[in-house]
Amino acid sequence: MARMHKGTYRAVFTESRAILSPVLRSGSSPRRFVRRFALGIVLPLVLIGCGEDTKTAMVPPDIGAGKSVAEAQCVGCHSLDGRGRAPGIPHMAAQVDQYLFESLVAYKEEKRTHAALRDMTKELSSAEIRNVAGYYASLPPLEGVAEMKPEDLMSPYEKGKAQAGVCANCHGDDGNSKTSGTPSLAGQQPLYFVSAVRAYLDGRRSISGKEMLRELSHVDIESLAMYYATQTPARRDAPTFGDAAAGEPLSARCGGCHGARGVSHDTATPSLAAQDPLYLVGAIKAYRDRSRQHDGMLIDDTDKEIANLAAFYATQQSASAESRPITAPELAAKCNRCHGAEVKNPTMAIPKISGQDKDYLVKALRAYRDGKRGSSMMHRMSLPYSEAIIESVASLYANQPAR
Ligand code: HEC
Ligand code: HEC
Ligand code: HEC
Ligand code: HEC
Repeated sequence: MARMHKGTYRAVFTESRAILSPVLRSGSSPRRFVRRFALGIVLPLVLIGCGEDTKTAMVPPDIGAGKSVAEAQCVGCHSLDGRGRAPGIPHMAAQVDQYLFESLVAYKEEKRTHAALRDMTKELSSAEIRNVAGYYASLPPLEGVAEMKPEDLMSPYEKGKAQAGVCANCHGDDGNSKTSGTPSLAGQQPLYFVSAVRAYLDGRRSISGKEMLRELSHVDIESLAMYYATQTPARRDAPTFGDAAAGEPLSARCGGCHGARGVSHDTATPSLAAQDPLYLVGAIKAYRDRSRQHDGMLIDDTDKEIANLAAFYATQQSASAESRPITAPELAAKCNRCHGAEVKNPTMAIPKISGQDKDYLVKALRAYRDGKRGSSMMHRMSLPYSEAIIESVASLYANQPAR
């Protein structure tokens, strides 16, 4: 991104603080996952680096000369009307002039990587870049780019809910299991959920009916994790075995990771509160016997002590890992603070993203998340399961009319 006006930079920064503050303010961590993911996507867009002089951009473009450049070099991929010819190639019709110019400069200077564009832009003069950007920006928005599929407009939570039907037989309708020995999933921490499913898939944990899990894509698994994380864990009656009161003091060693009374605040550590007691007994024994392992979780308790621990945790009140689902439209409302139609700020090169090619949007968002485009800070802030969010927000924008 090229240099911005100091005042504009400050405005963008203030804007982004305002966007993020409700999430940042949420403090301790039930929403840590949301906060991390929001930082992962939004912050890098906000931490816009500074670039070279873009004075050339201020000269009015020669649209006719720009069209000749497009005809000679760009039509094969972007068409003459600015339509990307294949998935993954961005549409450029009616795109913000300054943004197109700055992206081309970024390819030329290798701040954005794409071999074909790097080689091509190296051959182009500043004036040619200026003109071809002006040509594509001058075109009318494309019609009929959106290919609306109903599931494209579903949020990860809604997708997860639709997928969860097949899990309900064993795990309960809302993830509150009523089958003794089968774990509840309601309110469970999402990253733990994803890693548990992966552990079954790669054989570190065994489960019958593994085939059903194998059919799930990575995005499906994340969507399920997000759906279950927002469900409310039900209270449980005391089991017929174990002594909850005797289990409480034994749980002192566990609280540092699993949270006071088994309500975890860490996205990768499972909550134990309100879990099925028979499942807990089996899981704790699995760690004691080393068939499940986790560093720092050394269990040497007797069977009786394990029954007491399970009785204690099963009867605690749990809480949802996610208190409020962020739906794709809610997220888009945050994005629209910068990308929305009503935002008019010619000094800032913010690309239009509605009606953009979906595969390209996914690719661009991943590049930001993985630190391959823009700030390398996003690399550290990214989350493994934000794929589902990227998918859904990309679908949402790809399905909006271009403007
Ligand atoms: C071989 C196919 C191909 C050709 C030819 C090509 N492009 Fe592209 N273009 C792409 C792809 C693919 C991307 C996305 C690259 C990425 O992920 O950064 C892209 C991205 C861009 C972008 C960034 C758009 C955005 O929304 O960020 C601009 C601007 C651009 N091309 C302009 C041009 C111009 C001008 C020409 C002709 C001089 C041209 N391209 C020729 C395939 C091509
Ligand atoms: C046939 C019954 C059954 C069905 C259907 C089923 N599960 Fe399970 N699930 C189990 C049992 C039993 C376990 C405990 C296995 C073990 O001991 O590790 C389990 C464990 C899990 C766990 C680990 C929970 C934890 O606390 O470690 C996850 C996550 C999970 N299932 C997700 C799913 C999803 C997602 C679906 C639907 C796509 C599903 N299950 C369908 C029976 C089932
Ligand atoms: C150092 C942090 C830490 C401590 C201390 C710890 N745990 Fe864990 N525990 C974890 C993590 C992380 C996992 C998930 C590991 C995995 O993915 O296999 C886990 C998993 C579990 C599970 C499996 C839950 C499920 O849904 O399958 C049980 C049960 C459990 N711990 C019980 C305990 C008990 C009881 C204690 C105290 C005696 C304890 N843990 C102490 C971090 C800890
Ligand atoms: C604070 C303002 C701001 C917010 C909020 C914001 N963006 Fe952006 N976005 C930008 C700017 C500036 C760029 C251009 C950066 C560059 O040159 O790489 C950009 C670039 C993009 C691109 C690349 C477009 C292309 O043609 O290559 C996508 C996709 C995108 N944003 C999506 C989003 C989504 C989705 C959200 C909400 C989660 C969001 N943005 C929130 C300012 C913002």
